[in-house]
Amino acid sequence: MAMKTNLAGIIKLYDGIYSEKKPFFSLNYHWDTKRFSSLVKRGSTVLDAGCGIGKASQLLEREGYKVIGIDVNRKAIQRARRGYPDIEFQICGLSDLSRFKNSTFDAIFCRRVLGDLYRIGKFEKALAELARVLKKGGLIYTRTYIVIRTDFTFEDRKFTVKYFQKEFGKHFKILESKTQYSIRRDFWGKQLKLVGKKL
Ligand SMILES: C[S@@+](CC[C@H](N)C(=O)[O-])C[C@H]1O[C@@H](n2cnc3c(N)ncnc32)[C@H](O)[C@@H]1O
Repeated sequence: MAMKTNLAGIIKLYDGIYSEKKPFFSLNYHWDTKRFSSLVKRGSTVLDAGCGIGKASQLLEREGYKVIGIDVNRKAIQRARRGYPDIEFQICGLSDLSRFKNSTFDAIFCRRVLGDLYRIGKFEKALAELARVLKKGGLIYTRTYIVIRTDFTFEDRKFTVKYFQKEFGKHFKILESKTQYSIRRDFWGKQLKLVGKKL
């Protein structure tokens, strides 16, 4: 069953997760940060969009990037600031990036976030905002759960790999597209890695 929600619902969901000592999804960051690092010049200014508790921001910073992490969840940002005081973190939703000027970032890293934007009906707006703040020719690296059945998220037949690629392709030239199945005890689903370049 498709489960739509609103921003308050998303914040509440993650409040629960971020109250746990060790949020369950703090795994396998390296696969994404290493691949990102092989594509983006060191020293670049990077937006970690939907940074959660800031683990990927830290790995990217260590790789030599100037990172700004944003997330709509206050608890996540508090933990990120405590954990990584040298990195800049801001409480900010992806569908309104008006605090950032056009073409602010050289690259964007956005891992396991855009599905949540779809759930609140702001997916297309968020893609447009990410494109706006990215410099021309800049790289965007995303990983998104596309279809999933679990206690904590949703399944929706419209939110398909094709739909995601089509919307993403309106703003970015697709450089890499890879679908993987994710099957664990508590959920099964598909995740899509899409890497693009701002047109
Ligand atoms: C599954 S977590 C992933 C966190 C981190 N990117 C990672 O890979 O571990 C999804 C994150 O997206 C954030 N998020 C959800 N909707 C958002 C929105 N509209 N704007 C900004 N962040 C959002 C949540 O608060 C949560 O921290």
